[in-house]
Amino acid sequence: MFTKFQLAKKYLHYYLTASNGKGHGIHSPFVFDFVKNVLNDNTSYPAYQPIEQKRKALLNNSAVIDVEDFGAGSSVIKTNKRIVSAIAASSLKPKKYAQLLYRMIQYYKPDTVVELGTSFGITTAYLASANTASKVFTCEGSGAIASIAKQNFETLQLNNVQLTEGDFAKTLSPLLSDLKEINFAFVDGNHRKAPTLEYCNRLLSYSNTATILVFDDIHWSSEMEEAWEAIKQHPAVTLTIDLFFISIVFLNPDINHKQHFTIRF
Ligand SMILES: C[S@@+](CC[C@H](N)C(=O)[O-])C[C@H]1O[C@@H](n2cnc3c(N)ncnc32)[C@H](O)[C@@H]1O
Repeated sequence: MFTKFQLAKKYLHYYLTASNGKGHGIHSPFVFDFVKNVLNDNTSYPAYQPIEQKRKALLNNSAVIDVEDFGAGSSVIKTNKRIVSAIAASSLKPKKYAQLLYRMIQYYKPDTVVELGTSFGITTAYLASANTASKVFTCEGSGAIASIAKQNFETLQLNNVQLTEGDFAKTLSPLLSDLKEINFAFVDGNHRKAPTLEYCNRLLSYSNTATILVFDDIHWSSEMEEAWEAIKQHPAVTLTIDLFFISIVFLNPDINHKQHFTIRF
């Protein structure tokens, strides 16, 4: 994991070298459309408000819960007592990015959405409310965290979410073979190189050419940056967009040579 100083330096470099986010100089019609209609859509959709109220409640929740630590991702190494508000402050994707995922689901309308790393279900709620015809399959290893997420789905009246509890190492393969095909995935748990590449490969083998994969925090550590470089090189990947705190993978066959964009967001 990079230090705060290293990360700030990386962010500054990203900010100064990325395309300006207005679409200028972006010659790909597909990416230009994404920037114009999704990335820069500043509409405050009504669905945002109740979800942000839930986030606020979590940030004020002083309950203590037992949380499993997944260590290297294959088995629970220890259980820690954690305060809900502290987890909410450090784990949930900020609204800027969660709302971007909402707009992506609203725009591209994927039927089947997979999220690895539910936490309290805040980003899941954005994924599920963007298009009620989409089905969202979210995975979380910690039982105590998952049960708070389930309460949130209930009170937000989200009927298109299914939560699978357990270590991704055990739950992802059976879930994917049940689903047969996925159209969108958000990978936001276990930020290490080998598991990230393993999840990516598994997700790719259940993808079609319209599938979109989103990876969280690919600049978090040198391991994650190596994983991102390997993902970009995968033969099925035709287009990647780096927004620094999240990165997006498209498999669109109309793009006949690999393209990579870094866009300021
Ligand atoms: C960063 S949080 C997810 C945040 C959530 N996507 C959001 O934006 O609201 C990552 C979650 O993944 C879970 N996790 C990490 N590694 C895991 C593993 N190997 N199996 C199952 N869950 C895991 C953690 O318990 C944690 O709740």
